[in-house]
Amino acid sequence: MSEQQMQPEKTPQQIVDELDRYVIGQHKAKRAVAISLRNRYRRRCLSRDLREDIRPKNLLLIGPTGVGKTEIARRIANISGIPFVKVEATKFTEVGYVGRDVDSMVRDLVEVSMSLLRSQRIEQMGPKARERAHEKLLDILYPEGRRYHPLSGFEKSSDEQSNLPIDIEETDSVLIKRQQLSEQLLKGELDEKEVEIDVNDQATPVVEVFSSQTGFEEMGINMQGLQNMLGNMLPSRQRRRRVKVCEAREIMFQEEMHNIIDQDELQKEALNLAQESGVIFLDEIDKIASSFTSKSGPDVSREGVQRDLLPLVEGTSVMTKYGIVKTDHILFFAAGAFNVSKPSDLIPELQGRFPVRVEFDALNVDDFKRILVEPQNALTRQYQALLEVDGLSVEYTTDAIEAIARFAFQANADHENIGARRLHTIMEQLMEEAAFDAPQKLSGKYVVDGESVEKAIAPLLKNHDLARFIL
Ligand SMILES: Nc1ncnc2c1ncn2[C@@H]1O[C@H](COP(=O)(O)OP(=O)(O)OP(=O)(O)O)[C@@H](O)[C@H]1O
Ligand SMILES: [Mg+2]
Repeated sequence: MSEQQMQPEKTPQQIVDELDRYVIGQHKAKRAVAISLRNRYRRRCLSRDLREDIRPKNLLLIGPTGVGKTEIARRIANISGIPFVKVEATKFTEVGYVGRDVDSMVRDLVEVSMSLLRSQRIEQMGPKARERAHEKLLDILYPEGRRYHPLSGFEKSSDEQSNLPIDIEETDSVLIKRQQLSEQLLKGELDEKEVEIDVNDQATPVVEVFSSQTGFEEMGINMQGLQNMLGNMLPSRQRRRRVKVCEAREIMFQEEMHNIIDQDELQKEALNLAQESGVIFLDEIDKIASSFTSKSGPDVSREGVQRDLLPLVEGTSVMTKYGIVKTDHILFFAAGAFNVSKPSDLIPELQGRFPVRVEFDALNVDDFKRILVEPQNALTRQYQALLEVDGLSVEYTTDAIEAIARFAFQANADHENIGARRLHTIMEQLMEEAAFDAPQKLSGKYVVDGESVEKAIAPLLKNHDLARFIL
């Protein structure tokens, strides 16, 4: 069946394990996310009539700033097989105003599904396309060997040469030459040589970088359709280009991939994948909740955005360039700090569409300590890697980690609580000197211990005004 079913779906525990690699603590939130994701899969396994009635469990993630809400979202994006987009709710404007309309996130989701499926296809069929591209390139580099194919031998063709008795020796030498060339090509020895190839002007690359066509799409212009239409009307133009062998290999690979992939089928599958497995993460949802009941100023527009969101969350059809997407079973996660506004400041209809509420925990000193060292992208590791480039090998003592965490916690208590982001500002202060002095004044081992943290940070904390600006 479809590709996504070929990959084993992650169990809730596996999803939590995956998130654990980057996000410390927040177990309730991780569990809730994992359950919602798994429920999609469970639903897909049911009979059609049951399936239709089961609604996705949309989540509202609530927590103070800097405790990992967005971080969780970023990590869900990496869980394979799930088309996922994260958008800031503040980006949208009410329909009719200049700006992005809410439907664009569904279009983005389909785009993500497309590229997910494309890379799956490349994984599956890439080797075959590579092989074909290699043979084609060989044909160009060594035209005499053109009619030899490794499996079927020489082609019997009706042109002049085939009537001539083929000289065995010649056959051998052609074969050997081709074989040698093939090996050289594979080893990359010919990469820098130039070769002339015909490129199809219309072959679109299979791996598309996120294109700028959304702008057109928002204006209601269907670029793909336009392109296809024009493409069918105009004969595909071949252009002769001189390129390096390594480039030629890539171009031919793309062309072969393009030939192998059935575009229509791919689009259909992408629409389905977005509908059935898509996840949309609406970040900063609290920023569009109005804490006042005033009906003037920006609040009207914020409420307008909320109203625009309703049908999407409830289930509606959105036109995308690949076809219509029904949003009934797209899973929505919304997250916000809700320090100024409260979830109850959202319009009631929207509140009701996020039935599962999860609160994030505030982070304590122990969490900070773990955040500093445990995640795969931990801050201390980032500084180590950066300075390693300049020949400085940084080490942190346990005391140092302890002190950084303590100072961060204290700064949060004394000033504004910005959660784990405080670790970033403190680390920046702490490492400033090393970052500047490497490599000219500093090299070799560089130990950060409790004392040096104390020396760098404590004076800043003591001075209230200084701390407010610097930390
Ligand atoms: N629980 C955590 N585990 C690991 N790192 C964390 C955690 N919480 C926060 N961080 C770190 O702090 C940074 C900010 O966190 P994040 O972006 O998730 O904040 P947020 O909860 O979305 O806050 P806001 O409401 O301000 O958007 C992250 O880049 C990450 O490095
Ligand atoms: Mg955030």
